[in-house]
Amino acid sequence: MRRTWLWLLSGLFLHLVLFCGAEEGLEFPNFDGRDRVLDVSERNYKKALKRYDLLCLFYHEPLPASKGLQKRFQMTELVLELTAQVLENRGIGFGMVDSQKDAKVARKLGLEEVGSLYVFKDDRVIEFDGELSADTLVEFLLDVLEDPVEMLNTAMELRAFERMEEDIRLIGYFKGEDSYYKAFQEASERFQPYIKFFATFDKSVAKHLSLKMNEVNFYEPFMEEPAILPGRPLSEMDIVEFVNQHRRATLRKLRAENMFETWEDDMDGIHIVAFAEEEDPGLFPPPPFLFCSCFPPLFLQRLNLSSGYSSSSSFVLSPPDGYEFLEILKDVARDNTNNPELSIVWIDPDDFPLLTTYWEKTFKLDLFRPQIGVVNVTDADSVWLDMSNDEDLPTPEELEDWIEDVLSGRVNTEDDDEPADDQEDLDGYAPEDSSESHDPDEEDGDD
Ligand SMILES: *[C@@H]1O[C@H](CO)[C@@H](O)[C@H](O)[C@H]1NC(C)=O
Ligand SMILES: *[C@@H]1O[C@H](CO)[C@@H](O)[C@H](O)[C@H]1NC(C)=O
Repeated sequence: MRRTWLWLLSGLFLHLVLFCGAEEGLEFPNFDGRDRVLDVSERNYKKALKRYDLLCLFYHEPLPASKGLQKRFQMTELVLELTAQVLENRGIGFGMVDSQKDAKVARKLGLEEVGSLYVFKDDRVIEFDGELSADTLVEFLLDVLEDPVEMLNTAMELRAFERMEEDIRLIGYFKGEDSYYKAFQEASERFQPYIKFFATFDKSVAKHLSLKMNEVNFYEPFMEEPAILPGRPLSEMDIVEFVNQHRRATLRKLRAENMFETWEDDMDGIHIVAFAEEEDPGLFPPPPFLFCSCFPPLFLQRLNLSSGYSSSSSFVLSPPDGYEFLEILKDVARDNTNNPELSIVWIDPDDFPLLTTYWEKTFKLDLFRPQIGVVNVTDADSVWLDMSNDEDLPTPEELEDWIEDVLSGRVNTEDDDEPADDQEDLDGYAPEDSSESHDPDEEDGDD
């Protein structure tokens, strides 16, 4: 329903755009035809490294013979060209390295994974393991250009810091530039831009965050309290080791900028995946006319919030349960933050419009509702917690029981061909049969 409305609304906007077609100020960049991406070879790679602040090299297989695959290759090249064009004058160079023709250069530069993009900054190499689109790449490269440590000085910056609950963040309190700050800064360079490092030299900011001099705190995503890194002062290696040990969060959000890296970091061949659309209750104040005319009475009733966790604006333009389900998920993550076995990948389908239909088909899901399940990363086989009854999101306790069953292997992707004999002792839930024979729209809801 929401999508219908977005369509109608976008139709309206299109109408407006056509009406005022002569106006300027919204011009998407188009590739201007000028080649900016270098064909990297033994002769030019050293010069390129010296010339640019950042050098991005795409390591690829030799040009395929088939026309279709060539087109795909050209599309990748075009993404790089457009990125290079948009970021022109930023001191970023772009190049292609052929795994066969330029094998020697690849070896010298340490390029290993074909199809990956490597970014050289000073004497470091950062691998980009995300969605290869110009939007994502531009954002990523601008992040890499920044200083790896951001200073927190004002109350406003502090508030912004406190709102970044989806990110892994470290913050340290130091005397000044010439102090143990140096070790912190060096550690930060190894994780840029994936892990955010903040520092303050300001006593009141430190006091607000309960930081002692030379102390470093580590904020896991969605946790309320930070962990304090043991020891003071800390060396670069102390910090690096702590981050490496703790960087797989109990609840982590899938992001375009490192989605493949996240997906490759599975738990013994599986992921626990939660789909939920999030919306910030503050972002969409409800236009009253939408209330009256668009939503059916049933939806209106749901807007009369008895659960009281947010203002009435939270459900507008969003599926009713995504927000609530996420709150439950965060509760469970907070309760289990010390379990190293557990990491839940949260995917907001709104962030991946191109993948949504693929997921719905592969996992046989309706992503308009929140879902949680287990996915085998070898064959994408999956089982999903039955939450088909709209009013019936699991409680944190039920969700925890289910997760326990997943971790112990009692709920898994391999058993679902067998007849479900023992369904009755799964109180309140049952792994959904993912075979085609089961029609998800079938109405057999008796409980
Ligand atoms: C909304 O909630 C109030 C108080 O909880 C209740 O009195 C009222 O009847 C509810 N309205 C609807 C439409 O459910
Ligand atoms: C995942 O699927 C593969 C291939 O079907 C299977 O061999 C493997 O045991 C599965 N892994 C888990 C953890 O279920």
